[in-house]
Amino acid sequence: MATNRGTWASRLGFILAAAGSAIGLGNIWRFPYATGKSGGGLFFVVYLLCVLLVGLPIMMAEVLLGRMTQSSPVVAFRTLTRRRSPWILLGWMGVLTGFLILSYYSVVAGWTIHYLVLAVRDVFAASSVESIRGLFDALMSDPVANVGYHALFMGLTVAVVIGGVQAGIERWSRVLMPTLFLMLAALVVYCVFLRGFGDATRFVFAPHTDDFKPSSVLSALGQSFYSLSLGMGAMLTYGSYLSRDTGIPRSSAWVAVLDTLIATMASLVVFPVTFSFGMEAEAGPGLIFRSIPIAFSQMTGGYGLGIVFFVLIAFAALTSTISLQEVVTSSFIDLYGWPRRTVCLVSGAAIFLFGIPSALSGGSVFGGSMKALTGKSFFDWVDHLTVNWMLPLGGLAIAIFTGFVLDEAVRKQEFRQGTTWGAVYGVWLPLLRYVGPAAVLLVFAQSSGLLRLLGINW
Ligand code: TRP
Repeated sequence: MATNRGTWASRLGFILAAAGSAIGLGNIWRFPYATGKSGGGLFFVVYLLCVLLVGLPIMMAEVLLGRMTQSSPVVAFRTLTRRRSPWILLGWMGVLTGFLILSYYSVVAGWTIHYLVLAVRDVFAASSVESIRGLFDALMSDPVANVGYHALFMGLTVAVVIGGVQAGIERWSRVLMPTLFLMLAALVVYCVFLRGFGDATRFVFAPHTDDFKPSSVLSALGQSFYSLSLGMGAMLTYGSYLSRDTGIPRSSAWVAVLDTLIATMASLVVFPVTFSFGMEAEAGPGLIFRSIPIAFSQMTGGYGLGIVFFVLIAFAALTSTISLQEVVTSSFIDLYGWPRRTVCLVSGAAIFLFGIPSALSGGSVFGGSMKALTGKSFFDWVDHLTVNWMLPLGGLAIAIFTGFVLDEAVRKQEFRQGTTWGAVYGVWLPLLRYVGPAAVLLVFAQSSGLLRLLGINW
């Protein structure tokens, strides 16, 4: 059955592609900001615990289900359960989540291309602080640029995924990931010499106990989940291209280590740059699209650094959009046997179309009226639904399925197959069965307002 689906050429190919999925916009602006604002070093330690105790075990479960069935999510759950089992819906939810996330992620990724063009044209140096800030608002209210760059980014994504597992995804990950790492490392070295480096390290790593609230634990958990691309079958799909003699625990650990390393390095660039030029740490996309370009306009070598910075973010975003597109693509190939090319083009076009309202969300006509009606723009709705609900629900279900539904003998045998780290099984299983689900349920109780209803003020 699994003969011509494609496989990774090597273990390194898998690690780079999976790290590419994990490392994305979430690492570069979401992580630094969350850390700085929610307790610095304390948040950092809690985040590491979340990755280690909750994220990593669920990642191993996803990779295990994929490697075991050599199938994308829908077919994987169909293979492992009875006919018409409700678990098959979990596979479909993964496909839907991938579709939805990609539709707006590609819009933000498109902004990085717009900023790359601005950096190359040296627009920042020639503008005043006020007009640099204004560039972002101008972009938000420019429907043509938003839709155009969204189309361009979807085009790039589809072009890579059409190439298939080895010649498309793995080949591009092997180029983009090391380049990304080198560029980021060079920026970190540069930033060590900036005035604001000391302030930045204190902001990120010194424990600010006052800012650390119980809700910081929940945001650390949510961030670890999002950052590791869990809960929608992305890691399951990439695991399905692994051969059975590539071990699961060690490869997964590598992915988690790389993801965390890049998030840490990004913090050591974003804040030194921001603080050295007298700017505040802003929330959300304002940080990389508003504050950082101002800093680049004022620093020595800012022209080149600005280009490197936006190329880096675009690369990080591209390897993530590739994996989202691959979940959708691979599911339809496995289910119906359609040609990869057709599936890619049709689903890519559908995702592009569905993303148009998100691309128009910053504008006053569409975005403004939607916001007035429902309190959130279309973009915000899709983001909220997927990140706060669908991903945690998917993660919870995957943990329960792998931890309780899968036959013990099969699970143990699969985990131990191909690895010298088989003994980790004894630690992995209880984490997957109890710690993971408990943590996700807590996130749910928080995001649904249940905790507030019970009078617990997190
Ligand atoms: N991990 C990505 C980031 O940090 C975002 C993401 C979440 C994702 N879920 C995903 C990417 C699933 C690919 C597949 O930006």
